[in-house]
Amino acid sequence: MDIKDRRVLITGASRGLGRTLAFAFAEGGAREVFAGARQAQDIEKLKSEAQAKALPITPIKLDVTIEDEIAAAAALGFVDILVNNAGVAGYGNPLQMNFETALEEMNVNYFGAMRMARAFAPAMVEHGTGMIVNVATAFAKINLPLVGTYCASKAALLSLGQALRAYLGDRGVQVMTVMPTTIDTDMSKGADVPKMTREFVAGEILRHIREETIDPPIGAEAEGILEGLLKDPVAMEKMIGQIRA
Ligand SMILES: NC(=O)c1ccc[n+]([C@@H]2O[C@H](COP(=O)([O-])OP(=O)(O)OC[C@H]3O[C@@H](n4cnc5c(N)ncnc54)[C@H](OP(=O)(O)O)[C@@H]3O)[C@@H](O)[C@H]2O)c1
Repeated sequence: MDIKDRRVLITGASRGLGRTLAFAFAEGGAREVFAGARQAQDIEKLKSEAQAKALPITPIKLDVTIEDEIAAAAALGFVDILVNNAGVAGYGNPLQMNFETALEEMNVNYFGAMRMARAFAPAMVEHGTGMIVNVATAFAKINLPLVGTYCASKAALLSLGQALRAYLGDRGVQVMTVMPTTIDTDMSKGADVPKMTREFVAGEILRHIREETIDPPIGAEAEGILEGLLKDPVAMEKMIGQIRA
């Protein structure tokens, strides 16, 4: 799908990858980019930066756990591309960590994307076109126990994407779940590992949207993980299973 002249909505665009994606879509020629943010000060910051760069970014108040805010966003009308980017991550052992953290991961990462799809897919079906892009991780395919419950929520998101594709694919609506590994954002600030830049990841996501790839890994590390899983899933689980809290 071409980016040019598209109406796009991105959740979790106050900072991190979502913010970079909002500017990448606008700079890539999108007609209008709705950038979801939860805090008034983030909405103001996005507004002034977009104005300064003369880019068609419209910040909107959007928490993906609040149905009224999702309904207000859907009332803005048909969008060609919905990016379910909003996400939260907790660290720790699932047997001991705060249960609320794991509930929040599912509520934002999985149910948030599901709420958004339910709100935005009907207009896409009506138009006979559209794309839903879910931001997961390569560790949706193989659990990284350091962030075990987070990975479980992303595995649920990846699986949801397959279900959405089954229901929407023959109605002209595409569904893509992208799978990066670590990106240099607030979410990964405690992790002392090589990180991809936000700009690289946003560029790759836009490329895959243009090429309409099915569930692409993003970056060499993610590609290696998926290849390793095809070759020897047991060895891969043993290796990644060492990375614990
Ligand atoms: N960073 C990585 O290493 C990495 C790797 C693979 C995949 N990802 C995925 O990439 C996506 C972006 O993450 P990031 O790295 O950019 O993280 P980030 O810098 O922590 O940003 C997270 C974004 O999600 C928003 N958000 C959190 N809860 C929300 C809610 N209930 N409703 C709406 N927005 C909400 C945050 O808004 P506030 O500013 O209001 O909190 C923020 O805009 C996530 O889905 C993440 O899981 C990240």
